[in-house]
Amino acid sequence: MKHRIIFATGNEGKMKEIRMILADLGMEILSMKEAKVQLEIEENGSTFGENAEIKAQAVWNITKDIVLADDSGLAVDYLNGEPGVYSARYMEGASYEVKNRTIIERLKDAKEEERTARFVCAIAAVLPDGSVLHTEECVEGLIAHEPAGTNGFGYDPIFYLPEYGKTSAQIPLEKKNEISHRGKALEAMKLKLKEVLQGENQ
Ligand code: IMP
Repeated sequence: MKHRIIFATGNEGKMKEIRMILADLGMEILSMKEAKVQLEIEENGSTFGENAEIKAQAVWNITKDIVLADDSGLAVDYLNGEPGVYSARYMEGASYEVKNRTIIERLKDAKEEERTARFVCAIAAVLPDGSVLHTEECVEGLIAHEPAGTNGFGYDPIFYLPEYGKTSAQIPLEKKNEISHRGKALEAMKLKLKEVLQGENQ
């Protein structure tokens, strides 16, 4: 059966990454806007996985397609995991330039080994029969001393990847997709979806 995938996000930066990664599924991939779904979804879960499922479920209730949603964020160890599930809402109203500078400032007394952080991404998929799949992956890094780079979005300029000697805003999008939390969680979800779709065609 021919399905389409709706990704429950309004974030164009994310859609760009998602389309690149899921391209070889050979399926139509739509954003909520393209699917003409207008919905305010309250992300009131306490984990990334719960929030991803809440978002996917809300859109699935309307369209019954394959609906994917992600929930992601930056967890900074020195800040006891903040901003975590509140990453999008952290210092609401402020620009990322200000948010990023604030995080760096909050770590001013941290020792080098205390600057560890990770980007976490959970993906949930609700399938046409209502069953739910989950994946979760992360990428480890350090909070930079200065923001750097213009690729990516959000906290990318302050997320330093020691193996590359660069922030995730300084590496090309293709590379970021390969190593990022969202890239890895999406790849894992793509494998799960392939299994389900192959099973359907047998
Ligand atoms: P979500 O849209 O609810 O998943 O919120 C994720 C928030 O976490 C974003 O608005 C960013 O602030 C942050 N975030 C998640 N992934 C990334 C990334 O790859 N780079 C930079 N910031 C990210």
